[in-house]
Amino acid sequence: MEMRVEQEWLDVCGLDDIPRLGSRVVEVEGIWVALFRTADDQVHALEDRCPHKGGPLSQGIVFDQRVACPLHGWQIRLDTGHACAPDEGCVRRYRIKVEHDQVFVATDA
Ligand code: FES
Repeated sequence: MEMRVEQEWLDVCGLDDIPRLGSRVVEVEGIWVALFRTADDQVHALEDRCPHKGGPLSQGIVFDQRVACPLHGWQIRLDTGHACAPDEGCVRRYRIKVEHDQVFVATDA
């Protein structure tokens, strides 16, 4: 039997509600999700929980396409959610879209 995953887009905030090289936390289906905005206005969404020991990635430093966790400095790739070598781990990533300066998060992560 074929399974179909219904996708919904949640309107979570405006693009300008996310500071450049910063983040904003929103709640998506009971999970805290960090929205990151890069210097060139790309937006990425990751669960706000470091794969190391659960640190709040939203309070980390954003640079290039990465965020450095504020607790122990692991670097997490914003486009994949993977920890950069030599660290290993992965955080849940959400698909997003930006339309008319509004940011939407997919609920079928
Ligand atoms: S909790 Fe993020 S690096 Fe340790």
